[in-house]
Amino acid sequence: MSYDLVIKGGLVATASDTFAADVGIRDGKIAAIAAALDGGAETIDATAKLVLPGAIETHAHIEQESATGAMTADDYRTGSISALYGGNTSFVPFAAQHRGQSVTDTLALYHERAEKSVIDYSFHLIVTDPTEEILKKELPEAFAGGITSFKVFLTYDKMIVPDEAMLDILVTAREHGALTMVHAENNALIKWMVKRLVETGHTAPKYHAVSHPAAAEAEAINRAITLANFVGAPLLIVHVSTEEGANLVADARRAGHPIFGETCPQYLFLTRDDLDKPGAEGAKFCCSPPLRDVKTQEDLWRHLQAGTFHLWSSDHAPYRFDESGKLSAGPNPPFNRIANGMPGIAMRVPLLMSEGVRKGRLSLNDFVALTATNAAKLFGMHPQKGTIAVGADADIAIWDPEETRTVTAADMHDAMDYTPFEGMEITGWPTTVITRGKVALSGGELHAEPGDGKFIARQPFDFTGYTNRPFPELDPAAFGVKLID
Ligand code: URP
Ligand code: ZN
Ligand code: ZN
Repeated sequence: MSYDLVIKGGLVATASDTFAADVGIRDGKIAAIAAALDGGAETIDATAKLVLPGAIETHAHIEQESATGAMTADDYRTGSISALYGGNTSFVPFAAQHRGQSVTDTLALYHERAEKSVIDYSFHLIVTDPTEEILKKELPEAFAGGITSFKVFLTYDKMIVPDEAMLDILVTAREHGALTMVHAENNALIKWMVKRLVETGHTAPKYHAVSHPAAAEAEAINRAITLANFVGAPLLIVHVSTEEGANLVADARRAGHPIFGETCPQYLFLTRDDLDKPGAEGAKFCCSPPLRDVKTQEDLWRHLQAGTFHLWSSDHAPYRFDESGKLSAGPNPPFNRIANGMPGIAMRVPLLMSEGVRKGRLSLNDFVALTATNAAKLFGMHPQKGTIAVGADADIAIWDPEETRTVTAADMHDAMDYTPFEGMEITGWPTTVITRGKVALSGGELHAEPGDGKFIARQPFDFTGYTNRPFPELDPAAFGVKLID
């Protein structure tokens, strides 16, 4: 047998198994996995290394205008390069529909933007304007074109979707096999807090956390889950930042509903004390939901270990610490005029390797599930992506589990001027990253080109294992009402 590339002598891990094996790659696919393989036109010696599925980032804001018009610092070239340096071989950023825009036009724009990606990509839509036309025609067309997930917001005046519209959206998604993702915070509660804080002169960055209390997240998660369960629709609660929120996801999962949770590194490695850095420094740490406290970090670790969360995502939302981003409202902006979000696409996987696997909190298989396989399954990319198996795309990250690093902004290879994780000491780093059989990154050197990344048309949400029964409330006959003779 001959292969284009053989990875020899490494320890391979999937979401279920860890074993010593060689991996043979032909025509961009994994062609063989065996104790010993010869016949590689090229070989990579992976002795003492981990051979893992390339990670899949499914929460990133890339070349995206916010509702207030701020553009992210990273475009599809820099964002994908940074992702690659962090061990990712695919990503699914957002294509944001703003009010008055068509979903079809939005997707066409993002398809064009993503042409310069160095890794494979798809998009989640952000839906802010669910008109009849969009619900009945444009969304189903987008789903048929392989965009089988989308995000809605229960907060931000320019993005918010009222509960009735949320029900329409959930029913549409369920009918067409799409997955709804939700940013769950109570808008009124946040606005009420912001108004009082600003009126009383409490405008420093640290008050951003005060203005987004845990109760705002818990209320909105509870409501979103209630609505999704009512119509039997699958729902992903993104960036869960509180114990209360995680408990609600865990309860819904225990009850057998297709409810999923995601959390992010910032909620496990940073706290609201970071918002209280001198001067405007705290602006670097403004994101929504906001950073919490040390107790919450422990709660979220516990939930991560217990399997509450399917996804570990960066929520990479890169706004530079200058007038183009965080300081667009001046050198000392009030907290309510600071662009929300922080960068982290290069750090999400190394942080989980170091603080999760290397510190004994998670198994290597849990790590693979959280960084690659669960995302591939949940978003309709499995088994093409997210695992090491014969026939899968040869998207592989080779990790040196012993390499130690001190995190610096320069190592992120993004378009940003800071990393919120600056100075952290971590162990474990991806040394070689292979995308569809091509060595895209090796020994710190980039070999990928803009345009190497290809669009991934995704499959519908897989209801296997979930009841998927119509809820009696949606069936008039259950109440003895006959609508049609
Ligand atoms: O603060 C954040 N996370 N900004 C990005 C947008 C979002 O809500 O995910
Ligand atoms: Zn969000
Ligand atoms: Zn986000």
